[in-house]
Amino acid sequence: DASDIEKGTYPHYMLKEIDEQPVVIRKIIQQYQDDQGELTISADIIDAVNEADRIYIIAAGTSYHAGLVGKQFIEKMAHIPVEVHVASEFSYNMPLLSEKPLFVFISQSGETADSRSVLVQVKEHGYKTLTITNVPGSTLSREADHTLLLFAGPEIAVASTKAYTAQMAVLSILAAVAGKARGVNLEFDLSQELGIIANGMEVLCDSKEEMEEIARNFLATTRNCFFIGRAVDYYVGLEGSLKLKEISYIQAEGFAGGELKHGTIALIEEGTPIIALATQEHVNLSIRGNVKEVVARGANPCIISMKGLEEEDDAFVLPVVNELLTPLVSVIPLQLISYYAALHRDCDVDKPRNLAKSVTVE
Ligand code: G6P
Repeated sequence: DASDIEKGTYPHYMLKEIDEQPVVIRKIIQQYQDDQGELTISADIIDAVNEADRIYIIAAGTSYHAGLVGKQFIEKMAHIPVEVHVASEFSYNMPLLSEKPLFVFISQSGETADSRSVLVQVKEHGYKTLTITNVPGSTLSREADHTLLLFAGPEIAVASTKAYTAQMAVLSILAAVAGKARGVNLEFDLSQELGIIANGMEVLCDSKEEMEEIARNFLATTRNCFFIGRAVDYYVGLEGSLKLKEISYIQAEGFAGGELKHGTIALIEEGTPIIALATQEHVNLSIRGNVKEVVARGANPCIISMKGLEEEDDAFVLPVVNELLTPLVSVIPLQLISYYAALHRDCDVDKPRNLAKSVTVE
């Protein structure tokens, strides 16, 4: 049938979509470049960003995790304070809003009811809105003042992969272009760095055998699994744990490295897999300290580090990319490990139980 043609030679949409990520990043660079090769975003969107005194990112699931990373990008590259909120909780725990808020909705489908309900609510107050989505003409796109597109192509697998990296890439461009307009001096050329990311992604997509082996060694029979990281690695760990839960049904949780000792470490038993990310120089020693703490309690550590920060027993070493942008590459091993864990456990990778690609009820 038609879906078989689209999947080509791939056994699953998820694997195809993981492999598409380098191409998607290159497409995004191209789509957001002007004739001179400068990254650019339409002036009305940049004005909306730069008129805001605070940005409120609203999203669900994987898009929420992209928002957490986007906050770092916007605060570091554009110097605008950002809050990130889970859409379904926003109206109960409505923060005190700043004077000139800009609401940014991140949604692959553009149809998530929880996010839409916040959009409707903030529009009633006359606040400015921007939707970042993969689907032109989607509800959240039509109803917001502005839209930025992801250009990731249709994402069929329920577990989101290429949309997540596309969201982070577009958020980085938004942050850099807004920052430039505000006179923030960026010490690197973002389109060049994103090009390096695309190349790094390719290396990772070519490392499937290693990922399959990690999945087999650490996740074939385990009941649970913990992801730890510090700084931006913590956010990628949250996304890694969500991927693993969604498709392999392993109980997985992501934690900030320093928070483990405040409770969760009680769950560590002989052989409990701990996947630790170590991509950030300024926290490398502390995250490795956290790994030692859990190893002393019997955990089975799987450390994924960035080249230059690696140590002898690390399970996998990532190619070097700009330190701010590491989530775009560090998530790929986690996507692939989840994929192979699900295969080893005979799970339906593309259509996990109980989940829908887009949730249009609140
Ligand atoms: C559903 C999907 C998730 C997705 C979330 C938000 O729960 O199963 O994969 O991250 O919705 O979807 P959106 O389309 O708004 O990004």
